[in-house]
Amino acid sequence: MKNFKYDIPTKVHFGKGKISVLGKEVSALGKSVLFVYGGSSIKKNGIYDQVMKQLDSMNVIELSGVEPNPKIESARKGAQLCRENNIDVVLAVGGGSVIDCSKLIAAAASYEGDAWDLVLDTSKIGNVLPIVSVLTLSATGSEMDGFAVISNMETNDKLGMGSYKLKPTVSILDPEYTYTVSAYQTAAGTADIMSHILESYFHKEDGAYIQDRFAESLLKTCIKYGIMAIEEPENYEARANLMWASSLAINGLISYGTDEGWTVHPMEHELSAYYDITHGVGLALLTPHWMEYVLSEDTVDKFVEYGVNVWNIDSSLEKYSIAKEAIEKTADYFRKMGIPMTLHEVGIGEENLEIMAENASKRGAKYGYVSLSKEDVLKIYKSAL
Ligand code: NZQ
Ligand code: ZN
Repeated sequence: MKNFKYDIPTKVHFGKGKISVLGKEVSALGKSVLFVYGGSSIKKNGIYDQVMKQLDSMNVIELSGVEPNPKIESARKGAQLCRENNIDVVLAVGGGSVIDCSKLIAAAASYEGDAWDLVLDTSKIGNVLPIVSVLTLSATGSEMDGFAVISNMETNDKLGMGSYKLKPTVSILDPEYTYTVSAYQTAAGTADIMSHILESYFHKEDGAYIQDRFAESLLKTCIKYGIMAIEEPENYEARANLMWASSLAINGLISYGTDEGWTVHPMEHELSAYYDITHGVGLALLTPHWMEYVLSEDTVDKFVEYGVNVWNIDSSLEKYSIAKEAIEKTADYFRKMGIPMTLHEVGIGEENLEIMAENASKRGAKYGYVSLSKEDVLKIYKSAL
C-alpha cells in the first residue's frame, strides 16, 4: 500500500428531510448566494421551492439552464454573475453537471481571465468561493470530490480538472430527491458509480487489501440496488444505498494507497466531447470491451478476484473462464438496466475514432492500469461499434 494523506473536508448531511439544514449552512458562509441549477427537473419535483424556502432571508441570484455535460459558456455566465452581485456562496442543486459547473464558477469568480484557462491549468486557481451542493442524481460523486468536467464544444474538448479547493464545503444528500430520476439516468448513474469503483479497483499495488474489499462491497451495492431503483423508483433503501455509494466511490476512500490512473473515463470523455452522449452510458458500453482487451497473463488474477468476490463465480474454475464470465456478467448487468451497448446505438460511427483515440490515449489512457496507446484505444472503440 502506498503512503497517503486522508483528507475529505466535505460535511455531509444525509437522509430524508435534510434540506432543513440548508438555510443555516448557507447563511454561515455568507449573505449572497448564486443558486445554480439545470433544466426543469427541480421545478417539476418541488425541490426548487424547498430550496427557496430555506434561502428566504438571503440575497439570491439564480443561474438556470446548466446543461448535461456542462458547457464552458454556463460557467462564464455564472462567474460574471458572482462578480456583479458580490456573491459569497455558490449553491449547486442538481446532478454532476450542475455541481461541476458550480465548481468552476466558484473558482472563476475571482479570476481575471477566461474560465477556460482554469480548466487547462488548475495551478491558476486562486480563491474559490465556498460550494454547497444539494444532490439530485446519484452518479458522479462530485458532491464529495475535487473534480469538475467541463465541455467546450467549439474545440470538441471535454476536460477534467481537479483541485482540493473545488471540494464542496457542505453537501446535502436526500435519497428521496432522486425518486424522479428516469430509469435511463438511474441506469447511467449506476454504471458511472461502478466505473469509478472499477477504475480504482483495477490497480497493480500489492497489499491494498482493505481498499479492494471496500471497492467490492461498493460494487455489490450497485449491483443489488441499481436494477431495484429502476424497477421501484421510490424504494428508499435502493436510492439511499446508491446515493452513498456514489460519494464513497470517488471521495478517496478506495483510491488512497493505490492511486492508479484511470483508463475508461478518458476514452468516454472523448465520446461525450464529440457526440454529447450521456457519460454513464458511454462508460457502460466501453467497459466490457476494455476488460476483454486488457485481460492477459499479467492481469488475469485481478479479474479472478473480481469474478469470485463480486460476481460469486466458482473459484475452482479455470482462471480464464472466471475472468471471461466476470466480463460477461458485467456487460449483462448493464444490458439488463437498459443501457444501449454499442456505439452505433448512441449515434457514433467510425468518422472520429482516430482523433478520439489519440486524445484519449494522451489524456489518460496511456497512464492507466494497462497503458493504452492510440492504436490500443482505436481497437477498443472499433470492438464497441
Ligand atoms: O437538467 P435537469 O432538468 O435538472 O435534468 C437532469 C439532466 O437532464 C436530470 N436530473 C437530475 N436530477 C434529477 C433529474 N431528473 C429528474 N429528477 C431528478 N432528481 O438528469 C439529467 C442528467 O444530469 P447530469 O447532472 O448531467 O448527470 P450526472 O450526474 O450523471 O453528471 C454527468 C456529468 O458529470 C461528469 C460527466 O462527465 C458529465 O459531464 N462527471 C463528473 C465527475 C466528477 N465531478 O467527479 C466524475 C464523473 O466521472 C463524470 O465525468
Ligand atoms: Zn464517471
